[in-house]
Amino acid sequence: MILDIVQVGDPVLRQKCKPVTRFDGELCKLLDDMKETLKKAEGAGLAAPQVGVPVRVVAVDVEEGYFEFVNPIFVWQKGEQCGPEGCLSVRGKVGDVTRPSKVKIVFQDRKGDKYSLVARDFFARAVCHELDHLDGVLYTDKASHVRDSED
Ligand code: NI
Repeated sequence: MILDIVQVGDPVLRQKCKPVTRFDGELCKLLDDMKETLKKAEGAGLAAPQVGVPVRVVAVDVEEGYFEFVNPIFVWQKGEQCGPEGCLSVRGKVGDVTRPSKVKIVFQDRKGDKYSLVARDFFARAVCHELDHLDGVLYTDKASHVRDSED
């Protein structure tokens, strides 16, 4: 099911999201709906609060593949990159954000199994952007030169 993407101004985007404790059908449904919603929106990532659910779940869709991270936590962040960023919850805008160039996270999958992953470059940027959403942070809080996007 395609879900509505919450827009900036909605308090759900400013909440500290709760960890997932039950790896059940409800979580699978959320992840499936987030996938459908993200594919339709053609974005690089989507966090659960963006569909109105304040839990620690994100999806990232990048060159390296489609990823679902439940309860993701940074292990380390290295380097620096600065580049343009947008957000499905801040339509029509883009801004330049400095992010780490390489990050390592630990996370769970929809079954609760634990994994770790290293992401770099744009993938790292997308991971950082989505993890910020879980703490109520929007890229516009960190961006310089927020402007109207071309498309
Ligand atoms: Ni976003």
